Amino acid sequence: MTEQPTVYVTRAIPAAGLDQLRDRYDVVVRDETLPPSKDHIVSRLEELDAEGLVCLLSEDVDATVLDASPDLSVVSTFSVGYDHIDLTAAAERGIAVGHTPGVLTETTADLAWALLLTCARRTVEGHAHVAADEWETWGPTLLTGPDVHDATLGIVGLGKIGTATAKRAAGFEMDVLYSGPSRKPAREDELASFGVEATYVERQQLLAESDFVSLHVPLTEATEGLIGEAELGRMAEDAILLNTSRGEVVDTDALDEALDRGEIARAGLDVTDPEPLPADHPLFRHAPERLVVTPHIGSASTGTRNRMAEMVAACTEAGIEGEPLPHSALR
Ligand code: DGY
Repeated sequence: MTEQPTVYVTRAIPAAGLDQLRDRYDVVVRDETLPPSKDHIVSRLEELDAEGLVCLLSEDVDATVLDASPDLSVVSTFSVGYDHIDLTAAAERGIAVGHTPGVLTETTADLAWALLLTCARRTVEGHAHVAADEWETWGPTLLTGPDVHDATLGIVGLGKIGTATAKRAAGFEMDVLYSGPSRKPAREDELASFGVEATYVERQQLLAESDFVSLHVPLTEATEGLIGEAELGRMAEDAILLNTSRGEVVDTDALDEALDRGEIARAGLDVTDPEPLPADHPLFRHAPERLVVTPHIGSASTGTRNRMAEMVAACTEAGIEGEPLPHSALR
């Protein structure tokens, strides 16, 4: 009997994907909650002579990892983002790279809105107030915040997730501004069909005029630190910053100082730098009044995570069989 190719999975993904892989391959799943070290991934790939690697966004896949097994033909990441993978090194070695675009768009936009509403209407503080038995009576100014309806939503990066986030503004009758490297007429038309008129402006104008600034850019050299001291300083004092993209897009120290100086009202972060954000990190002293943090759960609906697992399996399978990947990160 011929040996089946081996796929190494750095941490368990939903069974929907693992079962699909197990039908055809030897699948070795590392049974730990925390990410493995790079040395660990390298030694496992070597020992297993793996043909496929399934990883998460917390794993740094560089040339050392890619060289660990001579038979490695595909890396599939259980994420749409692939900033943790050295794509150039993969392309040079002829190793395919798969990811999970599209499927998590709506789910991540839902979370951006969950943070937006949470920050505006102070629900985390409200819950803490009740849980601490501080709720003595109805109060005329208790936990007041800005209106969401009729406000201005600024979308930085009108890609798929940015567009899905903007689309949801229709029900709140908001004005929508967006910024990015260039105007996107097709996205504007798509939004118009949902009753949202999105106006392209320079980022500086968006920052100055938006009540809510929501970040939807991938992490690249150009977007690292995109929102720093100057950008936060341009935002209105009662504005709210939302980040569901990558933590490094925002300069954490600058955000800390902006919250301290009252340059913006609040921030809702699903992604942080560092990530995870330790509870004793200085930024956390602003929570929950000025800061709400969730643990990178933008795509965390059961259905979406199952679909991501299936996509990862399909990419891995295609890579091992030498077929074009259904969702390739390599251009
Ligand atoms: C991604 O996929 O890149 C998200 O950040 C997590 O699902």
